[in-house]
Amino acid sequence: MPSASKITEFYETFREISGLVHSSTDVKEVLDLVVWKVTEALNAKAALLRILNLRTGEFEPSASYGLSDTYLSKGPVTQKHLITDVYKQRPYIIIKDVQSDERIFYRKELEAEGISMILDLPLVFRDNMAGLLRIFFREKKVFEPDEIDFAVSLAQQSSCAIDKARLIEEQQARYDQLALHTEKLSALGRMAAGIAHEINNPLAGVLLYSSSLAKKVKDDGPLKEGLDIIIRETQRCKIIIQDLLEFARDREPQKNTADIHRVIDQAVTMLENEFRLRQIQLDRTYAPNMKKALLDANQLQQVLINLLLNAAHAIEQKGTVSIRTRMDAAGKKMVIEVQDTGCGVQPEHLNKLFEPFFSTKKNGSGLGLAVSYGIVQNHQGQLTVESQPGKGACFTITLPLVDDKRKSYQRWQ
Ligand SMILES: Nc1ncnc2c1ncn2[C@@H]1O[C@H](COP(=O)(O)OP(=O)(O)OP(=O)(O)O)[C@@H](O)[C@H]1O
Ligand SMILES: [Mg+2]
Repeated sequence: MPSASKITEFYETFREISGLVHSSTDVKEVLDLVVWKVTEALNAKAALLRILNLRTGEFEPSASYGLSDTYLSKGPVTQKHLITDVYKQRPYIIIKDVQSDERIFYRKELEAEGISMILDLPLVFRDNMAGLLRIFFREKKVFEPDEIDFAVSLAQQSSCAIDKARLIEEQQARYDQLALHTEKLSALGRMAAGIAHEINNPLAGVLLYSSSLAKKVKDDGPLKEGLDIIIRETQRCKIIIQDLLEFARDREPQKNTADIHRVIDQAVTMLENEFRLRQIQLDRTYAPNMKKALLDANQLQQVLINLLLNAAHAIEQKGTVSIRTRMDAAGKKMVIEVQDTGCGVQPEHLNKLFEPFFSTKKNGSGLGLAVSYGIVQNHQGQLTVESQPGKGACFTITLPLVDDKRKSYQRWQ
């Protein structure tokens, strides 16, 4: 039985290490402390902690204490030499005689280090072996249960530290990828805005001269049809360019207390003809007593027109578009849903929908949803989509009802 002071030492060491696991993001710092403390507390000769490199399948030395450089220069050990089912199932394994045990890879080197016995502690996390903590002893000894408990606890803390480091690494990789993507998009946006700006003026010239020429030619003359096409297509280009400039400008919303139902009604009025021609039925279900929100009515109207036009395009002929408004469960957000019975979105397109220039339409610029997404985000809201191919799509706008600056709720008068 270890003395009371030894147990206190175990306890304090464990507390120090578990504190560091929680507070430090540097896994090396934790593992260095583990190998040092475990060697001292167990009166061992040395300790070595290897971590499994998921790419190479090798156990690479990650922290060591008390081993010579010659031993450490032996490098990694392959997975097949270390991992046996026994290692995954047991919290510790004692190798009583290093010279005759087949699990020992570098026997000669261990002899040179003066080691005769080993305590192995597999670092298992979520059923996977993440590494191995190996403690080396000069003389053979019989372990006390408290000593084993202490070593196993430190191995568990090491597994937590490794797992935490992996999570941080994964998050960092994801963040880097996202940052690269955002940077690419904003560079593309800047470039597109530059081009749009340059094209805008010559286009205005083409439109001006073709319109004045069209007025001068006879209605049944040979040039009339061609000029009309020039005017129509130039106007289309102008709309695309304006959308592009709008997207790149990323205007700050001019927020005022607004009646969202009136904004929706105005957007619907502008598209009534389009809906009638396509025999699309429009259902509106408005939440009674909807709280007022601070928003830029013009920008929100633009979002709704984009969503309604997309819905109409997805339906083509005959179908239903439903617009619903409601408050979220906590009463802090306004939710607007635009649902259609159209063709729906292919699953592989779902995460591209809000990217600028993504379009499946022959004449689509792919800016409608990108602009809408930006506007909703500038309102501290969210624009999301749910869809099943063949069954239609539902776009949801969520907007906060509370203005952060004023911290006040607005109610319908
Ligand atoms: N309601 C919907 N149902 C099915 N697909 C949709 C719907 N809304 C958008 N999409 C898909 O998302 C793509 C991008 O839409 P977005 O509005 O950004 O561009 P667009 O409509 O193609 O062109 P435009 O810039 O003229 O609006 C569309 O081409 C279409 O494939
Ligand atoms: Mg569109």
